Order: sequence, then C-alpha cells, then structure tokens
Amino acid sequence: MNIIRTVSDMKSYRLSLREKGVSVGLVPTMGALHDGHLSLIRHIRSLCDIVITSIFVNPIQFGRNEDLGKYPRPFDEDCQKAGLAGCNVVFSPEPADMYPKDFSTYIEVEKITAGLCGASRPGHFRGVATVVLKFFNIISPDMAIFGQKDAQQVAVIRRMVEDLDCPVKIITAPIVREKDGLALSSRNSYLTPDERSEVPAVFAGLGKASSLFMKGEKNASRLKAAVLDSYSNARTFTVEYVEIVDIKTLEPLSGECNSAMIAVAVRTSDSKTRLIDNIVLGGDF
Ligand code: PAF
Repeated sequence: MNIIRTVSDMKSYRLSLREKGVSVGLVPTMGALHDGHLSLIRHIRSLCDIVITSIFVNPIQFGRNEDLGKYPRPFDEDCQKAGLAGCNVVFSPEPADMYPKDFSTYIEVEKITAGLCGASRPGHFRGVATVVLKFFNIISPDMAIFGQKDAQQVAVIRRMVEDLDCPVKIITAPIVREKDGLALSSRNSYLTPDERSEVPAVFAGLGKASSLFMKGEKNASRLKAAVLDSYSNARTFTVEYVEIVDIKTLEPLSGECNSAMIAVAVRTSDSKTRLIDNIVLGGDF
C-alpha cells in the first residue's frame, strides 16, 4: 500500500492512473479507523480497481470548543488496517497543504444543514462539504463511500453533488455496531467505563421505536416520544436531540408516516462525548 502525503503528489498520482483507465473509489476518513471504516473500504474495494482512503483530521469542521486537539491519530496502525482491508493508497495531507494561508473559499449547503447536528454545530457541515469537495477535485474519484451513521453528512454531500454537478457516485453503507448495539465511532474511545456500560441504551431506544413501528404505530410524535421515554432514566448521558425526519430531506415529520428516519444525539456527562445514531423505518437510506 502506498502513502501519499501532499496534494501535489496526489494530483500527479491521479493523473498517472488516467492513462491506465482504472476506476477509483474514495473512502474519506479522519483516521482512528474502526470496523465501520474498514467495512466501507471492503465495500468499495468490490466496486472499483483502486481504493484511496483519505486520513485527514479536518480542522475546519471542528467548533472552537470541540475535540480537534484530542482527536485520536494512530496513523501507522490506521495504514496497516486500511491495507489489510484492501486499500491501495492512503492520502494524508497536512492541514497547511489543504488550507494554505490565503484560503478563503467554503461550501455552504443550505436548509438541510439547519436541523439535527447542524443546529448545535454551526459551521460543521460547511467544513465537511468544503473538505469533501476538495478531495473530489484533488482525487477525482469515480465513486465515494460514506457511512449511514453520519446520516446528515450523507444528505449534505448528496445535495452538494447534485447541486454542483460533481461527477462522483455517492455510495452508502450501513452502520456497524458493537455486539451490544453501540454504533462504532472513533469517539467511543473517550467514554468512561461507566458511560460505556450505559450508552448501548441509545440504540435500544431506537429499537423500541422500531418494534412499535413494526407493530403498526405510524404516528411520528408517538414514535419520537417512545425513544425519549426510554432515555428518561439515563444516568450518564443527556439527550441533545431525538428527531423523526424524512429519510432523504431530513425535514421533521409529524402525524402518520410510512417511512422515516429517527436520528438521535446524546452527550455523556463525564467525558462529554457526543454520540449520534439513527434508524431507518419502512424505507431505504
Ligand atoms: O465522516 C468523517 O470522518 C468526516 O466528516 C469526513 C467525511 C472524512 C470529512 O472530514
């Protein structure tokens, strides 16, 4: 597996692939790779000739009080894991290479970024959309894959790709979970043992709504209330939001619904870890 550390080397490498006529798949990550990321690499490996994984802790998508400084960066381990999963090239540029001194252009995806995580993380999706578009321009992938766990991120990127006519196919893959239901996340490593033992309740609450939906409960407010109710006795986390939304537009739903996404964000009390999760009812993401 090759490691490319600069934007200009990545552009040259991509140019050299053009002559070979191979298809290229991109797995954008911030590193600290877990089985969720590796499932994305394996998935796209089966669809294209060359798999490129970007490992870049993108400073512009972190708010001032967020965890940019402490975000885990186990680079050597990440490269080893990515290679074993079938990645051909890791692209890991320096922030100053991606954002030189006079950098002044940002991508603002409107509306879809207003609710859910966008409401409490101003500027986050602007940072995500900007770095993803830069990766698309530097790497020119034929396809790029994103996980369903970051459902709003996927919706934002799909919107950007459509609005700006990016010639990239967006693929998604399901959430990968621990045996007890906790969605895999690089931030799970921040959890205290006490928090870790209780946070599977986040997915259990979504599961409660899912079984009610399967039994015929289609009322959005009641489904949302069931999730909130299941979190009411949590000791180690508080709810930031529970929302029931349209699967594609992420617009809030009320009344009867035949398909929906329930999205949640919680914050733990001691380690202040922010966890997100979601479940799709009666439809495809
Ligand atoms: O999902 C992530 O890890 C990041 O938001 C992404 C897409 C790599 C952009 O920095």
